[in-house]
Amino acid sequence: MREELNNLKNNALAQIIDAKNEDVLEELRITYLGRNGNINELTKEFKNLNDEEKKEMGILLNETKKTIEEAISSKLSEFKKEKSNAWFDYTIPGKKYNLGHIHLISQTIEEISNVFEKIGFVRVRYPEVEWDWYAFGALNFPVDHPARDEWETFFIDTKPHPKFGAMLLTPHTSSGQVREMQRVKTPPIRMINIAKCYRRQSDVSHYPMFHQFEGLVVDEGINITHLKGTLDYFAKSVFGQTVKTRIRPYHFQFTEPSFEVDFSCTICGGKGCKLCKEGWLEVGGSGMVHPNVLKAGGIDAKRYSGFAFGWGVERILMMKPGLNIPDLRQLYSTDVRYLKQF
Ligand code: PHE
Repeated sequence: MREELNNLKNNALAQIIDAKNEDVLEELRITYLGRNGNINELTKEFKNLNDEEKKEMGILLNETKKTIEEAISSKLSEFKKEKSNAWFDYTIPGKKYNLGHIHLISQTIEEISNVFEKIGFVRVRYPEVEWDWYAFGALNFPVDHPARDEWETFFIDTKPHPKFGAMLLTPHTSSGQVREMQRVKTPPIRMINIAKCYRRQSDVSHYPMFHQFEGLVVDEGINITHLKGTLDYFAKSVFGQTVKTRIRPYHFQFTEPSFEVDFSCTICGGKGCKLCKEGWLEVGGSGMVHPNVLKAGGIDAKRYSGFAFGWGVERILMMKPGLNIPDLRQLYSTDVRYLKQF
């Protein structure tokens, strides 16, 4: 049967190659592949075979069938091509396809990465679907601490991890801090983690999915002046040399001391306007890494210290003069007329 099949294949291929037109090709298809065709005829002989042979011949039969099918369809497209060549008008103007461009959010992420990479930060990514421990527990949030409510987290309905707790969508990029400490193990650490974050919120300046970037520096002798210098550098790189930064005392579980970060208003230059009122725009959070967080990441908190900061990529966008994005949700729409502008 193996030989029969081989002969059949060779005959079929030879005839297909020689076929003069589509009608001949169709006849060949019926002869070989049709319901009463040669291949189906051969399957009838299957009943005389044992199981092993059946399996082997089954495979061979399918391969033969496929080879013949492919030969027919490639011959068919040859005919089609010949036909179309006959009437093809080379003077018809070509189709113009719309050229897209990189989304505004991606452009901004790129810009932020570049700014930090220039001063030695390494861009990393960590899971968006994360364990409670990385998002909260290791960041010094006691279980059931009310501070967790501020993060308005989406939890995933699944069995909790015995050690890491509930599964959730990461509500902030701070979840990358301890993962980075575990990755690098021995400082220095200079991380920039830019990722999607998720919170249960939606209005003109909030969306359930948004982007944050998180800076983390850990080394010997790191202090607040390094944090302030880094913020200054970032503000000037993105918004121009005249922009000033300021830090105000605040509270986060995972930093001590903690600060909120303001930039002098990028729209009015700090004089005071409708947007900023008093000349400053609140940007995000920052602080000196809490020793408990260093410990959770396996870092010797007596020898090393660090700072961290984090805020929304969208926030940076909304502060860009001239862009004028009154409603954040538009950025996630699929309205090309809107997105084309950027
Ligand atoms: N993760 C905090 C937030 O989402 C911001 C923050 C990052 C604060 C790093 C301190 C240090 O609001």
